[in-house]
Amino acid sequence: MTATAGSLMQKSLPNWDNLSFAFTETDFMYRSYGDKRNVPIWDRGEFAPLADIKVSPAAAFMSYGLGIFEGLKAQRSADGRILLFRPDKNAERFKRSAVRLSLPEFPAHQFVEACVEMVRRNERFVPPVGKGSFYLRPLELAVEPKLGLGPSNLFLVLIYGCPVGSYFTGGAPKGVRLQVLEQGRVAPGGTGYAKCMSNYAGGIYVASQWKEKGFDDVLYLDARHLKYVTETSGSNVFLKRKDGVIVTPSLDDQILPGVTRDSTIQVARSLLGMKVEERPLAIDEVIEEGEELFCTGTAWTLQSVREIVHHGITVKFPVEDARKAILDVVRGIQTGSREDTFGWTVKVR
Ligand SMILES: Cc1ncc(COP(=O)(O)O)c(C=O)c1O
Repeated sequence: MTATAGSLMQKSLPNWDNLSFAFTETDFMYRSYGDKRNVPIWDRGEFAPLADIKVSPAAAFMSYGLGIFEGLKAQRSADGRILLFRPDKNAERFKRSAVRLSLPEFPAHQFVEACVEMVRRNERFVPPVGKGSFYLRPLELAVEPKLGLGPSNLFLVLIYGCPVGSYFTGGAPKGVRLQVLEQGRVAPGGTGYAKCMSNYAGGIYVASQWKEKGFDDVLYLDARHLKYVTETSGSNVFLKRKDGVIVTPSLDDQILPGVTRDSTIQVARSLLGMKVEERPLAIDEVIEEGEELFCTGTAWTLQSVREIVHHGITVKFPVEDARKAILDVVRGIQTGSREDTFGWTVKVR
């Protein structure tokens, strides 16, 4: 990877006390071009001042949604380090998503190195301890000009990043409110397990109808039976039953394998001794047996659900114990205040 010499327009730093989950410009982006006919497919990649990109109006991703993305965070520790959380897991998922979308796999080591270097080069935008995190957004796009539907040869991987605060305005201190939808987020047998552009496009319309009515997001049931809980627009879900057992929907074609989901399961099981089951979770079980409901995601972190509305009936989840205990550990590892026994964090600095 080489640095591109270029004069940087000095971007202004944000107000650290007022960060939200919004795009702001930073200093550098990363790009790597790929051609399926070459060996290796990908060039070495380069860092360049953040700028608009030039693509053909006929680039395949623009008509056909042939694009995937990722989201991961780096945070400062109190002792002056900067830690990136589980970039290898995002690299793996990036590869799995690529295969599903007929895009070439981007090598995991190149993904991780590029993410680490992106944080280094944009270091002045990594928020001070306790003020937020630096969010990285890797993308892979089919950029070949293409009129007909079919696989492409030319690809672009881009990574940009910016400082972020809470995903919810005001931080949703009492938890979020979700509308249960009798519809799937994605089609059965489709692309639900991949983090691809098209999985999100149609859901914006769906969620905005409910956001206008005072909900924070929606909770989708499975598209086959309209019976089992899957996930929200951008997070996985966990239920703590009245008997203390934690249940999260097992991974299938309609659920994104969240990195935070995996971290939550491992922390709950092996550090906190909680019983966690991965299995189909019926909405009826959530309503009848549930004591605590929470969502997990890189952007959402571990977020309490204070209530859901299903068939016009409100069900409240006043308990927050499991989420708080798990979040405490996950956050401790992410911010370096707790020993990282899993080897999850990568030291950027
Ligand atoms: C649909 C969906 N489910 C779950 C998640 C949570 O995944 P992660 O914990 O890797 O951020 C996300 C966010 O990436 C998502 O978009």
